[in-house]
Amino acid sequence: MKDILSINLKNAERFVPSEEVIALAQQSARHLETLKEGTGAGSDFLGWITLPGEIAAQLDRIEQKAKHLRSVSDTTVVIGIGGSYLGAKAVIEALSHSFTPLLKKKHHEMLFAGHNISEDYISDLLEILDERDYSIIVISKSGTTTEPAIAFRILKDHLEKKIGKLKAAERIIAITDGKKGALRSQAEKNGYEIFVIPDNIGGRYSVLTPVGLLPIAVSGIDIKELVKGALAMEEASLKNKNGASNPVLIYAAARNLVLRTGRSIEILVGFTPKLHYFSEWWKQLFGESEGKEGKGIFPASVDFTTDLHSLGQYIQDGQRILFETIISVKEPGKKLIIPLENDDSDQLNFLAGKRLSEVNHNAETGTILAHNDGNVPVIKIDIPLLDEYYTGQLIYFFELACAVSGYILDVNPFDQPGVEAYKKNMFALLNKPGFEDAGKKLRERLK
Ligand code: PA5
Repeated sequence: MKDILSINLKNAERFVPSEEVIALAQQSARHLETLKEGTGAGSDFLGWITLPGEIAAQLDRIEQKAKHLRSVSDTTVVIGIGGSYLGAKAVIEALSHSFTPLLKKKHHEMLFAGHNISEDYISDLLEILDERDYSIIVISKSGTTTEPAIAFRILKDHLEKKIGKLKAAERIIAITDGKKGALRSQAEKNGYEIFVIPDNIGGRYSVLTPVGLLPIAVSGIDIKELVKGALAMEEASLKNKNGASNPVLIYAAARNLVLRTGRSIEILVGFTPKLHYFSEWWKQLFGESEGKEGKGIFPASVDFTTDLHSLGQYIQDGQRILFETIISVKEPGKKLIIPLENDDSDQLNFLAGKRLSEVNHNAETGTILAHNDGNVPVIKIDIPLLDEYYTGQLIYFFELACAVSGYILDVNPFDQPGVEAYKKNMFALLNKPGFEDAGKKLRERLK
């Protein structure tokens, strides 16, 4: 059996003593019960808790569809935003070749749309798609979100003109609500294959449903191993009421205790660009779950060592309002040795013969110690490898920690009322029928 990820609080200890972390973790075990029993805030959205075990029944169908899309097209465009975008993007970026689009060997291209309303982005995408044989996976739980709906309208039109309406229908997969919504009706009317997002799973918790798993499988990643990792994490955390040995409870408790020291910004740190979008997924998960009623820890992220040359100064020495959580990957997927140079003008021959990862690990340890000296508490999450299994573990780990942490903060971690505000204004300014009065008022404000 493979290991479970571990938490290292050594560099947070002088800010939040271990006894206090364990005490809060022990107390927080009750939130696991609340989640399992569905008796807390947002209990209509708890389907993700037992999802790793339950999704197994759908994995063959998802894999078959993925295989089909790979065989009929060379590119898949995934349309979605927020929870209907970030999970797939995070896992694909974490587990694929860093330069997939430039690979000479045959590969399936994964492109994304519907996560912005940029005219340039979509226009550039259409230029690329003119030359591609592509399929579309359109994802929207509500079926009415503006950004993906506009992108779908444009891409569907493009694909239909390119290969005809009937063929296009065979290349379009809709992932949406089981019963209702505009996307569902369109899919039924046009004969698109449908995968369902369960009612009781919110967008940011949906990566282990077809929302994340279908695009991930199309990209060639082993979704069974991903789900296996998530299941291992579920087994290690959901039923473990012992605060001292449950990594989820320890992490949730530690970050809340650090918050109480006045540090309200948590920076998720990766030492590989492969984790860049994982951090984006994490930011949505925690930002939408906790940031309400004037509460919450602001989730930020950096890619080190890249950002040590931009944000490093602030983290070391700016306002003491932040703490870091590092995802530390022990062993990279590949090996590379630093060569010896006859002319040692860069004075790096002392590194010759060493692996690049040895330098990166020392950069990581050096950064942790330096930031700690600068009064930044550092929580470290250790995984042996960045592979499907441990990515699955990380996903479930953060999902459960986020729910527990939301309950510690006494907010409903499963709603996102604040997201509506910009939409109402946008519709009012665009004169959407029904929003005329609101539009008038906003235009007055803009004078
Ligand atoms: O987490 C959430 O609920 C949101 O980020 C949604 O995923 C996002 O707004 C997209 O919604 P939908 O899938 O309904 O288009």
